[in-house]
Amino acid sequence: MTAIIAISNQKGGVGKTATTLGLAAAARAAGARVLVIDLDPQANATDVLTLPDVELGDGAFGLLADPKHGGGQALSEVIVAGAGEWVGVDLVPGSRSMAEVDTDTGATQPLRLRKALGQGRDSLAHYDVVLMDCPPSLGRVLLAGLVAATHVVIVTEPAGHALQGVGRLEETMTEVRDGFEQSTPRLLALLINRGKRTAEAAFREQELRDSYGPLVLDGIVPERTAVADAASAGLPIHAMKSPGASAVTVVLDALWAQIDARLREAAPTPAATPSS
Ligand SMILES: Nc1ncnc2c1ncn2[C@@H]1O[C@H](COP(=O)(O)OP(=O)(O)OP(=O)(O)O)[C@@H](O)[C@H]1O
Ligand SMILES: [Mg+2]
Repeated sequence: MTAIIAISNQKGGVGKTATTLGLAAAARAAGARVLVIDLDPQANATDVLTLPDVELGDGAFGLLADPKHGGGQALSEVIVAGAGEWVGVDLVPGSRSMAEVDTDTGATQPLRLRKALGQGRDSLAHYDVVLMDCPPSLGRVLLAGLVAATHVVIVTEPAGHALQGVGRLEETMTEVRDGFEQSTPRLLALLINRGKRTAEAAFREQELRDSYGPLVLDGIVPERTAVADAASAGLPIHAMKSPGASAVTVVLDALWAQIDARLREAAPTPAATPSS
């Protein structure tokens, strides 16, 4: 069963998209076949992963929306193959129209993405891992992502409010667990992004490690301008040639190796938990 990892934090700007793209590149470099699902209406990951003027179709909107309003599409219909430097990393694009999903209060809405991925299991079988770039803020798209996920990786910065941000997402995961009994995304890891050599960053890192112990991955993605430069150039950080890019790449590869090992240790939770 392909692991479906929600890369998330309700706090904005902590590096969810940069981490999704970085881990996608690291996983591909390690030989994995990767599918990125862009669940953010800002579509930042889609902008990086695709070339301008390429027809993207409905993307994730086609999986999330009401079938009467453009949803109900098959996973195979909405996947765009990775091109150029991104060959081997396929994409279900995000789009501004996904913002409509947050106002869709239909009873079936939270389960649609999960159902689409379940029905698309033949397409999913082409991939070793699915990375879902989640939106900030708690809306129905994030909920749908957590309901569909088998695992969650929380991205955080070593800064004030990091603990509260992680705690808030854990509460949301609990709501998902209680509200959709058959769905049990497992908190796989906490990943610290944007490390700095400051006393404040060291303090916040220790605070996270004291609270979450081995859930926190070893190694911190450093703050380097190469991360933003790679995004602007539409390139994987692995393709950038600079000392900063190399420093980030080395850490991302090591973080992916830990995530991969955790996935292998415990197979993803089965879609349906048998009732006892
Ligand atoms: N390790 C890093 N070093 C330097 N810049 C970074 C790093 N990680 C992310 N950034 C930059 O910080 C900005 C915010 O990152 P990103 O878009 O990944 O955050 P996000 O959590 O996805 O934001 P949102 O909540 O809006 O979706 C981007 O310009 C990105 O290039
Ligand atoms: Mg983002």
